[in-house]
Amino acid sequence: MNDGCAVRAEALEKRYGEKRALDGFDLAVREGTVHGLLGPNGAGKTTAVRVLSTLIRLDGGRATVAGLDVARQAREVRARIGLTGQYAAVDEVLTGRQNLEMFGRLFHLGGRRARLRAAELLERFDLTDAADQGVGGYSGGMRRRLDLAASMILAPAVLFLDEPTTGLDPRSRGEVWESVRDLVAGGTTVLLTTQYLEEADRLASRITVIDQGRAIADDTPDGLKSLVGGDRIEVVVADRADIPRVVKVVARVADGEPDADETELRVHAPVTDRVAALTDVARILQDEDVRVEDLGLRRPSLDDVFLRLTGHRTDTARTKEAAA
Ligand SMILES: Nc1ncnc2c1ncn2[C@@H]1O[C@H](COP(=O)(O)OP(=O)(O)O)[C@@H](O)[C@H]1O
Ligand SMILES: [Mg+2]
Repeated sequence: MNDGCAVRAEALEKRYGEKRALDGFDLAVREGTVHGLLGPNGAGKTTAVRVLSTLIRLDGGRATVAGLDVARQAREVRARIGLTGQYAAVDEVLTGRQNLEMFGRLFHLGGRRARLRAAELLERFDLTDAADQGVGGYSGGMRRRLDLAASMILAPAVLFLDEPTTGLDPRSRGEVWESVRDLVAGGTTVLLTTQYLEEADRLASRITVIDQGRAIADDTPDGLKSLVGGDRIEVVVADRADIPRVVKVVARVADGEPDADETELRVHAPVTDRVAALTDVARILQDEDVRVEDLGLRRPSLDDVFLRLTGHRTDTARTKEAAA
């Protein structure tokens, strides 16, 4: 069976007691692409990855990976996939090279092939210079890259990456993104879970949004972003009386009607040419002597998408708001 899909899931069910971690989850991942599975904490992302990588059993529904049934052909599926969890599985005491050679032996490569494969992967993930240092001294980004390398020992057809950049600083995050792009250029299909719309946007050609164990949207990154109106410019004024004036100024650079929030003293509107909009608004407001508390550009977040799709905020956003 080959329908151009590396992963296909239909009506997946997974229960933990009363909790429905997956509740009719559908997914189709095209071969040779990065597919983003975007959702807040607790949405069911890890459960979906565990089911698809045969680590846990389904309670209902059907899934294939590389054309193989995850329930009936688990062993064959395992031979064709790689999996990188949220936390690195590498050994701190060993060097990067020793870690990869160890994984190679675990996969029955034999000493010589394990050494060759380790050297290849160190090169590919830009770790050659640090290869013979202990992993304990690696940065967060280097560790995740080593973890990615470890999951690529057998050159899997499908790689599952569960929140590969959560907890990384922006620079390390960028390095991991680079590695993921390289992998896909080499023909691997990647299913990547994330809580960041920006990450899914940068890497994925298609995004499935998951909420409470169910897919609530499946679209291109542009499609999802247009749902929430793309990038926005935001002005927070010091004085409520200035809001109507600021609305007029923002309207001159915006692509749509500005919204004004009277309680937060905030005016915001969608923009396409982000930097031009920002500099124009800054100049005009200064010329007009408007007192500004804050001025900036905001990229749409998972929370914006969520609000549009479900009518409610993510729990994380609600918790943050309650704490503020
Ligand atoms: N082993 C488990 N036992 C009980 N509940 C679980 C277990 N694993 C996950 N859950 C629950 O299932 C839901 C989905 O979890 P998970 O797939 O880890 O979400 P995500 O990875 O999107 O944060 C959550 O409510 C979580 O508490
Ligand atoms: Mg998770």
